[in-house]
Amino acid sequence: MMNKIHTLGGYFHEYQKSIANPESFWEQQADCLYWRKRWDKVVDWNFEEPRINWFVNARLNITENIFERNLYTIGDSTAIIWEPNDPTEASIRLSYRELYAEVNKFANSLRSLGVTKGDRVALYMPMVPELAIALLACARIGAIHSVIFAGFSAQALSERINDADAKLVLTADGGFRGSKITPLKDITDEALESCPGVRSVVVLKRTNTAVQMVGGRDIWWHDLIEGQADYCAAEDMDAEDPLFILYTSGSTGKPKGIVHTTGGYMVYTAYTFRNVFQYSRGDVYFCTADIGWITGHSYIVYGPLLNGAQSLMFEGIPTWPDPGRFWDIVDKYQVNQFYTAPTAIRSLLSLGNQHLEGKSLASLKVLGTVGEPINEDAWHWYHDHVGKNRCPIVDTWWQTETGGVLISPLAGVTPTKPSFATLPLPGVVPVIVDNAGEKLRGNSVEGNLCIEYPWPGMARTLWGDHERFRETYFSSFKNLYFTGDGVRRDEDGYYRILGRVDDVINVSGHRLGTAEIENAINEHPLVNESAVVGYPHPIKGQGIYAFVVCPELSTGGEEGIRLSIKQGVSKIIGPIARPDLVQLVPGLPKTRSGKIMRRILRKIAEGDASNLGDTTTLLDEEIVDAIIGSALVDV
Ligand code: PRX
Repeated sequence: MMNKIHTLGGYFHEYQKSIANPESFWEQQADCLYWRKRWDKVVDWNFEEPRINWFVNARLNITENIFERNLYTIGDSTAIIWEPNDPTEASIRLSYRELYAEVNKFANSLRSLGVTKGDRVALYMPMVPELAIALLACARIGAIHSVIFAGFSAQALSERINDADAKLVLTADGGFRGSKITPLKDITDEALESCPGVRSVVVLKRTNTAVQMVGGRDIWWHDLIEGQADYCAAEDMDAEDPLFILYTSGSTGKPKGIVHTTGGYMVYTAYTFRNVFQYSRGDVYFCTADIGWITGHSYIVYGPLLNGAQSLMFEGIPTWPDPGRFWDIVDKYQVNQFYTAPTAIRSLLSLGNQHLEGKSLASLKVLGTVGEPINEDAWHWYHDHVGKNRCPIVDTWWQTETGGVLISPLAGVTPTKPSFATLPLPGVVPVIVDNAGEKLRGNSVEGNLCIEYPWPGMARTLWGDHERFRETYFSSFKNLYFTGDGVRRDEDGYYRILGRVDDVINVSGHRLGTAEIENAINEHPLVNESAVVGYPHPIKGQGIYAFVVCPELSTGGEEGIRLSIKQGVSKIIGPIARPDLVQLVPGLPKTRSGKIMRRILRKIAEGDASNLGDTTTLLDEEIVDAIIGSALVDV
C-alpha cells in the first residue's frame, strides 16, 4: 500500500523529499501499484510544448489495480454503496467481487458492440451504480469515457459528443432528481439529431419513463448484458494512453475536452485520496458530487476504489425529501469521511439547524469541501454543527485539469484555518506570480497561482486541440502551468484561493465560461449583444449577471424578454447556466478598440458603482451612467 503521512513533521519531511527528488518520490508511490511492465523513465516533460509523459513506456490496466491486485484480500468487502434518490427505495451494496463481475460483463457488452481501444464512449446518465460500472468497463477495454453531466441540454450534449467523435452513447430512460425526473433519453434523441457519428445508444431502465427506441440504433442495457461472460481480459494500456475526456468551461465559448491518461492519473488519485482523507480500511466514505464532474471521477470512482475503499454514491439532492437527507445517509451507513461543496453547505446553513436535530453524526471523522472558495461562516457552521467541533475540515483546492487535489490539508495532520486550502501536497510546487510574470517569493503575497513542476495527475492535452492546451495553460507565464485562480500566501505560508482571475465564473461549484453564456444569450432574436459577469451570491457563491442590449424592445416587453433570455440559456446550455439577473441596457462599456470593459460591469454587478476606477479609455463614457441609471428590476 501507498505511503500514508500521519504527522505534520512527517508531512514536511515527505514534502521536502518530494521536491528534492520528485522522480524518486513518485516512483516510490507508483511501485505500490501493479504494472504489467515497469517504466523506462519516471517523467519526461517540457512545459513549453507542452509535453508531459509520466511512467514512460510502462504498461498497465487501471482496473487490474482496482480488482485483480486486491480481490484476494478485499473481494468480499463493499466497494460501492448506492443510496437512491427516494429514501424508501432499496439501497444497493456491491462487493469488490460483485463489482468486478459487473464491470467485466459490461466490458464484454461494449466489445460486442464493436467498441475497441481508443474509441470514445459518451455517458449521459443518472447517479446509479451502472454509471460507475460503465466507466470501469470502458477502462477495462481501453475505450475513452466522456461523461457529460446529466443536467446539460441537448445542444450541449451533442456538441460534446461531436467534439469527441463518440460512436456510442450510454444513457437512461430518465434520471430522478428530488421530486423531478429528467427525461435523459428524450434529450439524447434530440442531441443525436445533430450527431451523425453515433451508431449505437444503450438505454438503462431507471425511471420507467416512456421512451422511443430507434430501431438499429438503440438497445436496452438489460438486453445487452444478458448472457455476457463475467470475465473480460483487460486491455494492455500504455501509461500515457488516454483514460478519459471530461469537458469543462474556459474563457472562450467552446468547451474544452480535458484529457487524462492512465498511469499518472492512477498514481495521483490513489495517493491523494489516501492522504487527504486519511482513509483507513473499513471506513465508509461519502462524496456528494456527481460523477459528471471531475470530483466524481477522481474521488467517487478511481481514488477510493484503487484504495479498496467503501465509496458511497448518492443519486439524489441534499434537500429532498427534506434538508436532513445528507445527515440521514451519514447515520444510516455510519459515514466516516464526508466530502461536499460549499454551495451545499451554504444552502443547508440558510435553512437553520432544525434539519440536524435528532441526527447523530457521531461516525464522522473527516469533512471535506471542494469546488469553490468556502467563506468563514460556512466553514464554521460545517465545523461546529456537522463536525461537532471534532472533525478536521479538508478544504481541497484543485481543478478538472489537475486530475486530483493539489493544495489541501491532510485530515487531522495539517492544522486548518477557516477558508484556507493550507499547504501543497507532496510533489506539488505552487508559485505566485504577478501580472508581469515576476515570481513573488516569501510570505504575505498575492497574485496568480501557477504550478512549477508537473505532477502525475495533470491533464495532458485538450482533445483534438493541443495548441489551445498550450495557449490556455502554458503561455501566460513562461515554464509554468497557469491555473486561472488568484491566491494569497499568508504570513504562515498558507494558501487561500481567491477565485478565478479569468472570464470563468463559479456558480454553485459549477464552472462556467462567461463567453459560453453570452453566446447562448446572443442567440435570442431580439438580442444584439451581451456581457456576462459573476456577482457575489449568498448561496451559489457567484450568481450570473447578464447585461443585454435589445434595441428593438417594445414598451412593456422587458419582463417577457428577460424571462425568455433566461429560458433560452437553460435550453442551450442547461439550467446550471441560467442567468440570475438580466439587465437590459442601451449599450456596453467598450474601449476604443471594441473590447468590453468587464471590470466596470463587475463593479456595477457587485453594487459598487461609486468606485469604477479609470474610465477614460472608454469609447463612450456616458454609457456607464446610462447602465447605472437603468435600474435593475428583475423577474
Ligand atoms: O476556481 C477554483 C475552484 O474551482 C475551479 C476548478 O473548477 P473545476 O474544474 O470544475 O473543478 C472543481 C472540482 C475540483 C478552480 O480553478 N475551486 C476548486 N476547489 C476550490 C476552488 N476554489 C477555492 N477553494 C477550493 N477548495
